[in-house]
Amino acid sequence: MKKLFIKTYGCQMNVYDSDRMADALAPSGYEATTDIDEADLVVLNTCHIREKAAEKVYSELGRLRIMRQKKEQKGGEMMIGIAGCVAQAEGEEIVRRAPVVDLVFGPQSYHRLPDLVEQAQTKKVVETDFPAEDKFEHLPKPKKETTIARGLTSFLTVQEGCDKFCSFCVVPYTRGAEVSRPVHQIITEAQDLVDAGVKEITLLGQNVNAYHGLDANGETQGLAQLLYKLADIDGLDRLRYTTSHPRDMDDALINAHRDLDMLMPYLHLPVQAGSDSILKSMNRQHTVEDYMRLLERIREARPDIALSGDFIVGFPGETDEDFEGTLKLVRDVEYAQAYSFKYSTRPGTPGATMDNQVPEEVKSERLQRLQELLNHQQTEFNKSRIGTTMPVLFEKTGRDPGQIVGRSPYLQPVQVEADPSHIGTIRDVFIDSVGKFSLFGKIVINS
Ligand code: 5AD
Ligand code: SF4
Repeated sequence: MKKLFIKTYGCQMNVYDSDRMADALAPSGYEATTDIDEADLVVLNTCHIREKAAEKVYSELGRLRIMRQKKEQKGGEMMIGIAGCVAQAEGEEIVRRAPVVDLVFGPQSYHRLPDLVEQAQTKKVVETDFPAEDKFEHLPKPKKETTIARGLTSFLTVQEGCDKFCSFCVVPYTRGAEVSRPVHQIITEAQDLVDAGVKEITLLGQNVNAYHGLDANGETQGLAQLLYKLADIDGLDRLRYTTSHPRDMDDALINAHRDLDMLMPYLHLPVQAGSDSILKSMNRQHTVEDYMRLLERIREARPDIALSGDFIVGFPGETDEDFEGTLKLVRDVEYAQAYSFKYSTRPGTPGATMDNQVPEEVKSERLQRLQELLNHQQTEFNKSRIGTTMPVLFEKTGRDPGQIVGRSPYLQPVQVEADPSHIGTIRDVFIDSVGKFSLFGKIVINS
C-alpha cells in the first residue's frame, strides 16, 4: 500500500474534494494517512480566496522541500501535488516558483488523478483544463468502510462554480461557470452515505441555492425540490445547505424551510456589506433593504431560524459611513455566527483595479470593531440557549471520560455526560450552561 497525505485549506468544498481525491486514488493502491512523514504522495488542496490563503501554500512548500530532501537522503520518495483553486489560478507558475512540485491539477481533474500521478513519475504535470466529461460520473465510489470511518455527518457537492461575479471574488474564475449535478446522481450519493450510517448531509455549492439540476424526465429542479426528494430518504435525519446568495433565495426554498423539519433552522446567507453603494460596486445585485426584507420572509416561514453570514471590510471606496452601515445591519439582523475579512485584492477581479483602495490600518481597525460586535452576538446567541431543550445529534466521545459530544441544529457543539450508546442518535438535551466554544446540558428522558 502507498500512503497519501492530503492537507486541506479553505472551504467545505475543499474538504469534500479531498475525500474525492482519496477515493480516486484508492483503486491505485493509495491509502490515506495522517502522518506526513510516511507519505509517498503529499497533496495540498489549496484556497485562493484571499491573498494570505495562497501565500500559506508557498510557505508550506518550503517546509515540504526540506522534508522531501531528508526522505530522499534515506532512500525514500515523496511526490508533491498541488490541487484546488491556487492550482487552477496559477498553473505553470507554481512549478516555476516551487520546482519541488511534481504535479499541479485543478478542481475539475480529480477523477483523472491516477493517470496524472502515473505521468508525474517521469515529468512535471500541470492539468488545469475544464474537461468536457462530468468528473462526478468518473469518480469511484468510496468503500462502505471508508464512508463509515468518515463519520455521521457528510458534505455532498450538488453545484459548483458561480455566475454572479461579485467584483471582489476569484471563484467565478477558479471554479468556473455554475454547473449543477443531475438529481439522480445526488440522490444515489446521498443514499450510499445513509447506507453507511450518515445521519446529516450538508449540500455544498459555491452558490448552492442557484442549484438547477436535471431530473430523470429532463426537467430542471431547484434546490427546494432537491431538498424535498432528499428528505424522503429513510434514515437521513438532518439536511443543511451552504453557501447561498440572497438573490437566489426563492419562494420555493423559503417554503422548504417552513415544510421540512429536518432542514436545520440555520442559514448561512452572506450579505458582505451594509451600504448600498458598496453593495453596488461589489456587484452584489441587491440592496440592504432587499436583504432585510428577505430575512423577514425567511423568519416568518421558520421563526426559529438563526442566521450566519460573511462580511468584507475595506472594499475599495468604503467610507466610515459605509462601514457604520455594516455595523447597523449586523445590529439589526443579530447573527448567531459570522465570518469577517479584510478586503484582499485578487488579481484579475474588477475590485483589484478600482480607485480608492482602503489603507491597511483602516481595514484592521474596522475588522476589529466588526468582530467585537459579531463575537458579542455569538456569545449572546449561545447564552440564549440556556434553559431551552434542543435536539442534538451525538457524534463522538468527548475529551473527558464519560462525556459525549454532538451538534445542535445551529451547529453548536454540545457536551453531555452520557453513555456512548447515544452516539449516532438524536436526543433532546436541556442546555444548562455555556462555555467558550461549547454548550453543556443533560439528555432529557422522554416519558
Ligand atoms: N477579500 C476578502 N474576503 C473575500 N471573500 C471572497 N473574496 C474575498 C476577497 N477578495 C470572502 C467573502 C465570501 C467568503 C467565502 O470569503 O465574504 O463570502
Ligand atoms: Fe464569489 Fe459568492 Fe459572489 Fe459567487 S456569489 S462571486 S462565489 S462571493
